[in-house]
Amino acid sequence: MRRLSLVVLLALCSVAPVLAQGARPTVPDSAGDPWWKHAVIYEIYPRSFQDTNRDGVGDLKGIASRLAYLHQLGVDAIWITPMYPSPQVDFGYDISDYEAIDPIYGTMGDFDDLMKVAKQQGIRVIMDLVLNHTSDQHPWFLQSRSSRTNPKRDWYIWHDPAPGGGPPNNWQSWFGHSAWTLDPTTGQYYYHYFYVQQPDLNWRNPEVKKAMYDVLRFWLDKGVSGFRMDAVSRLFEDPNLHDDPYLPGSNAFGDRNIQHKYTDDLPEIHDVFREIRKLVDSYPGHPVLISEADEPNIQGLARMYGHDDEIQLPMDFQIADANELSATKFRKLFQDVENNPAHGWPEFFFSNHDQPRQWDRYGDGTHNQQIAGLMAILELTARGTPQMYYGEEIGMRTTEPTRKEDVRDPEGITGWPKEKGRDGERTPMQWTAEAPNAGFSPAEVKTWLPVPESARTVNVATESAQPESLYNLYRRLLALRHTEPALIHGDYRPLNEDDPNVFSYMRQARVGDRTRKVVVALNMSNAIRTIRLQGSKAVGPGATGKILASNFEAAGSTQSLGEVKLPAFGGVVIGIQ
Ligand code: NOJ
Ligand code: CA
Repeated sequence: MRRLSLVVLLALCSVAPVLAQGARPTVPDSAGDPWWKHAVIYEIYPRSFQDTNRDGVGDLKGIASRLAYLHQLGVDAIWITPMYPSPQVDFGYDISDYEAIDPIYGTMGDFDDLMKVAKQQGIRVIMDLVLNHTSDQHPWFLQSRSSRTNPKRDWYIWHDPAPGGGPPNNWQSWFGHSAWTLDPTTGQYYYHYFYVQQPDLNWRNPEVKKAMYDVLRFWLDKGVSGFRMDAVSRLFEDPNLHDDPYLPGSNAFGDRNIQHKYTDDLPEIHDVFREIRKLVDSYPGHPVLISEADEPNIQGLARMYGHDDEIQLPMDFQIADANELSATKFRKLFQDVENNPAHGWPEFFFSNHDQPRQWDRYGDGTHNQQIAGLMAILELTARGTPQMYYGEEIGMRTTEPTRKEDVRDPEGITGWPKEKGRDGERTPMQWTAEAPNAGFSPAEVKTWLPVPESARTVNVATESAQPESLYNLYRRLLALRHTEPALIHGDYRPLNEDDPNVFSYMRQARVGDRTRKVVVALNMSNAIRTIRLQGSKAVGPGATGKILASNFEAAGSTQSLGEVKLPAFGGVVIGIQ
């Protein structure tokens, strides 16, 4: 971001008192929409958010202590990745008890306290729901593997070896090895889409369904506002064990060279979605279902909504994984989800705990700061529900381990050096400039992953004091999202659709007898670009513009609509009067 002039700084300071109060206006509900349509969701990786008991691992008390921060930032709901008891092979995605809290994160009392503080701060809590598999240490699996006749045997997927010996077929785990492991006790193989220690449940068994639906009720009774459903497209596999087809070559992630035709996206998943939707709909307060299913195209994504009787917010991996700053590509992706055949509400994100942070994936190495601001504008002004990842608001970097012995994620341990794993995007949250732990743990503690050097300047305390920081741009955008009717309720209209460099669109809403219009223009190229708004079908001849937020210009200044000049990677939100 370029240095701001004194005038600009003064203009920015003029908004500071409003933001500093931390009071967030409640979202107007005139459209009668459920809360999740206008919420901003924030993903917390509990190991890495805030440590309070000095063991170098984040905990529930730590999350509770930071909810006031999230409220001030403008977050409406947190999704906490699994904090249930777990051997932590896949850092919580291997659950050994679905109705308790892992002692490393605290107690059920801490969870209840967290819920109370969340309520006081007006923040909803969304749980991670891992339906596809359990830990191999879950009592269900321990019983299941104990004998072929155990009543829980059929709760998991067991098969005899292939006729000539070896795994029953060619199915591959997501992590690049056979998805079958032989259990010597009973001489059969069990199936695991993920790690060996994550056996898949048998969703064709009604007892499994019932047990999992009880888990949902347990947490809904505690007042949670919904679930992010892990890996849900993988609930079913072909009972006839057809081999999956091979793909030419392999791709960059592990050694996957197979199309998961018989192990992913089977039609049966939709029956389960409908049952779960019915269950959550029987609770008050519109609990939400968010699906993690990286559908290959918009048709696949649209199927997740059902007929408004399945998932309300399927995560859009097409947008998350665009991985290229291209106006043409983003225009198409946003248009696709806008026109999705199910008329479902969009949900999008750019970062999570499974992929390098957006700072590095979209940054070009020179303009990362501007690009991070540009992405923030896109994420927080598009129509739909945005999902942030902790630390994205300060521009946290992906910091991968450089030595194999430091890797913690099993994906990196098995895949090294080609695949370094996911530690890089899971490093501790950077609260202060204090070395070495940036306020995550006290200085003398060894944190579970090292705090990156960049924390000396990239942290909440330092950036809060810099009016032009990425953090303050996020705050401004989040405040706008909660107050500007065009951004809350407005429809989405692409502008200048032939422009290969600048992605621009209008959000427009009726408020009483007036129309509110906001134009967003995002220069996705490394050169100055000029666009014309006045005279277009969107902006009438006499209209004037005012900058509401930008990564290069002060909020509050007047903006000519005849020509809008955007520096390289400049983005601007303009209120039209
Ligand atoms: C998706 C989760 O996001 C990822 O972290 C995990 O390894 C797999 N599902 C298995 O649960
Ligand atoms: Ca701790």
